[in-house]
Amino acid sequence: MTLWSGRVGSSLDPAVWELLRANDAELLPYDCAATAEHAGRLHGAGLLDAGELSELEEKLSAIAQDPTAILATDEDVHSAIERLLGPVGRKVHAGRSRNDQVAAAFRLLVRDACAEAREEIDALALVTLSFAETEADTLMPGYTHLQRGQPVTLGHHLLAWVEMLGRDRTRFAAAAEAAAESPLGAGALAGSTLGIDPPTAQMRNSIDAVSDRDFALDYLYAAAMLALHLSRIGEEIVLWATAEFGFVRLPETASTGSSMMPQKLNPDVAELVRGKAGTAIGRLAGLLATVKGLPLAYDRDLQEDKPAVFGARRDVRDSLRGMTVLVSGLAANRDRLAEAVADPLLLATDVAEDLVRGGVPFRDAHEQVAASVRDGTFDAGTTAAESVAARPAPGPGGVREAIAAARGRFGKGA
Ligand code: ARG
Repeated sequence: MTLWSGRVGSSLDPAVWELLRANDAELLPYDCAATAEHAGRLHGAGLLDAGELSELEEKLSAIAQDPTAILATDEDVHSAIERLLGPVGRKVHAGRSRNDQVAAAFRLLVRDACAEAREEIDALALVTLSFAETEADTLMPGYTHLQRGQPVTLGHHLLAWVEMLGRDRTRFAAAAEAAAESPLGAGALAGSTLGIDPPTAQMRNSIDAVSDRDFALDYLYAAAMLALHLSRIGEEIVLWATAEFGFVRLPETASTGSSMMPQKLNPDVAELVRGKAGTAIGRLAGLLATVKGLPLAYDRDLQEDKPAVFGARRDVRDSLRGMTVLVSGLAANRDRLAEAVADPLLLATDVAEDLVRGGVPFRDAHEQVAASVRDGTFDAGTTAAESVAARPAPGPGGVREAIAAARGRFGKGA
């Protein structure tokens, strides 16, 4: 039984039914919450009595717990809820449409997904900060073009990961903010004649309220950027765990073996996270394309927004949790790092800067040092430790102060 069987009845072709049906059980608790809110306003307008309201509220909180009650014969979650409410459910759709209903429920879901993402980001940032603290003074080569550049500390490098995660946190907060207003009361597109009170923070324009999916796109963008960052972190872990680099050892809690080669320890977590960035970008591109050129107000095309967000939410959660386990178990191979950072050529820039301090124009200094590298007479005359100590990186207070400051940006209260 559809919500519109009065118009189309039983003539619908089964193939069309397959196309129409929304796979949207994940919306269930949010739709129940939005429906209870609407019922409260119907009561306020004298359209539901107190008994009907409390019956609705009770039933809705039970329905919210049980997604298995949604049947293949329900067109979508909204239809399922109305059916499950029984006779009193026949009153609850007054003054609303599935258009404002789905937008309201979806906004609640996106807000939850953003809060969840921020919690999981915090967990990853905090384990990264602990690793950075342990390795605050561990010297390593810093790279550009994946060629050795200048000595840095592993702590300094790990703090760069934390900066990326901090920006992701901000982006999820912005997406939550974009989802904060309420489309309820917009009805199908033009409100209703029933004199129902508006929700607090009601959207200003009912046509926009049922058409807008910016909040979902903002979420998918935040998720794609996070995935991009995790893919870069993942790639570094993959590289560092190779025999060729040998900078870190993978924890067995987050590594896999090979079905054929008994010796292998593989960084599948880092690889999967790297791979999921492609899917995350695809979800954003997909919904952008769905919304492009779509006339106002609601169109059924918009049903495509949900699988994208549901999938992104699952990947955000799984990727961050997996990476938290992986990063918290990484062990630096300090011998290999010391060996790599002992490369005297990492100090070429220091030697050029020494010449500058002595009054040599930088370009001349650069050419002199380059010539000594080319003819094999380069002599550093300094050490990686001295070089790092002489540079105020990642800030004037060094790695430990930067870690302390970063801790305040993650976790509760941040
Ligand atoms: N399942 C639909 C969606 O996700 C709900 C809204 C349907 N509205 C309509 N006018 N057919 O978009």
